[in-house]
Amino acid sequence: MEKISKSREETIKIAEEYARGLKAGDVVLLKGEMGAGKTVFCKGVAKALGITDEITSPTYAYMNDYYGKLYHYDCYRLSSGEDAEALGLTEYFYGGGISLVEWSENISEVLPSGCKTVIIEKTGEEERKITL
Ligand SMILES: Nc1ncnc2c1ncn2[C@@H]1O[C@H](COP(=O)(O)OP(=O)(O)O)[C@@H](O)[C@H]1O
Ligand SMILES: [Mg+2]
Repeated sequence: MEKISKSREETIKIAEEYARGLKAGDVVLLKGEMGAGKTVFCKGVAKALGITDEITSPTYAYMNDYYGKLYHYDCYRLSSGEDAEALGLTEYFYGGGISLVEWSENISEVLPSGCKTVIIEKTGEEERKITL
């Protein structure tokens, strides 16, 4: 399915709707260039899950665990699946929460099978094409 978002708020709404179709244990790969809106999308998913914390980019922590309900990964600074494994990050894919993974391309060898994919493309200053 393809959706056009015209603002940050619309992306959050689209993500909230999408999250209703997710279940515990799902792993969602968020794809798109820097600044596309992957972290914004996470905010919508968190909102749908009733998580009220500020969702910040886990660039330095690699993964933020929100109460075992949501695991938000940013693998930008990882260079291999081996790194992810060594840091103990991969076990969370099987941890029972929903995983949202930014820059999963960097750890492709250790992703579980059956991942879902969301692609966010920048089509304008504030416009995004979101493929779900
Ligand atoms: N339609 C839109 N959807 C999502 N973000 C948008 C949109 N229009 C503008 N933005 C801006 O783009 C940026 C996206 O940042 P972020 O979610 O951190 O990107 P990423 O995690 O993909 O690097 C934010 O500053 C946000 O306000
Ligand atoms: Mg991000």
